[in-house]
Amino acid sequence: MSVLSFPPGFHWGAATASFQVEGSTTADGRTDSIWDALCRVPGAVVNGDSGEPGADHYRRYRSDVELMKSLGLNAYRFSTAWPRVRPDGGAENPKGLDFYERLVDCLLDNGITPWITLYHWDLPQALEAEGGWADRDTAFRFADYAASVLDRLGDRVHHWITLNEPWCSAFLGYAVGRHAPGRTSPRAALAAVHHLMLAHGLAVDVIRGSAAQAQAGITLNLFPVVAVQPQDAEVARRVDGLQNRIFLDPVLHGRYPEDVLADLAPHGFTDYVLDGDVATISRTVDFLGVNYYRDLQVIDSGVPVTGPTEWIGAETARFPARGRPLTDMGWEVVPEGLTDLLLSLHRQRPDLPVYITENGAAYADEVVDGQVHDSDRVEFLAAHLRAVHAAISEGADVRGYFCWSLLDNFEWAEGYAKRFGIVHVDYATQRRTPKDSAHWYARVIADHGLG
Ligand code: BGC
Repeated sequence: MSVLSFPPGFHWGAATASFQVEGSTTADGRTDSIWDALCRVPGAVVNGDSGEPGADHYRRYRSDVELMKSLGLNAYRFSTAWPRVRPDGGAENPKGLDFYERLVDCLLDNGITPWITLYHWDLPQALEAEGGWADRDTAFRFADYAASVLDRLGDRVHHWITLNEPWCSAFLGYAVGRHAPGRTSPRAALAAVHHLMLAHGLAVDVIRGSAAQAQAGITLNLFPVVAVQPQDAEVARRVDGLQNRIFLDPVLHGRYPEDVLADLAPHGFTDYVLDGDVATISRTVDFLGVNYYRDLQVIDSGVPVTGPTEWIGAETARFPARGRPLTDMGWEVVPEGLTDLLLSLHRQRPDLPVYITENGAAYADEVVDGQVHDSDRVEFLAAHLRAVHAAISEGADVRGYFCWSLLDNFEWAEGYAKRFGIVHVDYATQRRTPKDSAHWYARVIADHGLG
């Protein structure tokens, strides 16, 4: 009997995303996403990396599912690629859907529950050319795409996530331009926030309409936001509004937060919110997906950043480190922030189940004699699982944990330089090597908890 035991029925999973692992970017009718396009912009992605070869999951999914089974995973979170299912955002492409059907059936045959994310950042480039998420119509096109996936898989897949981290899509994509589509317009970013949330609400309706038994939710990247000194409180409030509450409050409480609406009024946010939209974006969800990596310690520097920023209306915010250990992304390791976050969510909505849909760390792993000794990742994951357990002990209804990521993969603007997998991928040979963290996680799953 392990010391820290998790609730019965707990989902033990790992997550990936289509563009990050699939490769085969032109196979079976797939067309460009905004990330294919951004990868071609010189300097946009470290080493000029692209979606090729990825981890070649498109062709190796069967052996990857066997690997998942060997580790004892009972859930796999992956995303469907809009440009495979509806190339250029247009007509349905049966061959693209065939791939996801093969993957889902393979998972089910191996006793692994599929969790589908409908949008993990690969908007068809053709839709970006028509305005992308800054254009309201994109939300309706998303609902059409969601209907295609639900029609094909709604009979077998019971866990659906509409969007992954709309904060990144809107602010990193349209305000600061570090992510695709690489735009730097505050107005476009705020339009994108609302249209993404509208897309979420429309997709919940599609899920309910096509798969009555399905569970529908959204995944947000949430950060505890802490003002370092009392004089930093105002800018910290604004950061919390942009990072967390503008997305979370409609889902938890059925409205955009008043203070954030006031902060963003000079930037035109409310121009995009039409009658009836708030009701749509606030559709009842069955769970909240939480991606947790770290917290944000905020100070008010008094000096606005020069150049594009994601912190619209909070341009004087800075995020000093505290001397904690850093991951290879330069992110501080703050496991207790996850307990705080889960308890805060529990206080706000004790009735709403939560799943940790991502948590993990990049480290500079190397294969030596066929092994990867990633003790720093083992410590990271163990500390965060303890943090989840602490929240559950205090009443939080956390029903699953997906580590990010199953495989090393394309880490967006960082390309293949950062490795988040519990399984190492040699991109030249596509050889998979389970790291020590994978073996450790397999033991946790077998024990249903931590010793
Ligand atoms: C994203 C993943 C990403 C990970 C690490 C999350 O923001 O959903 O796609 O690889 O964090 O940066």
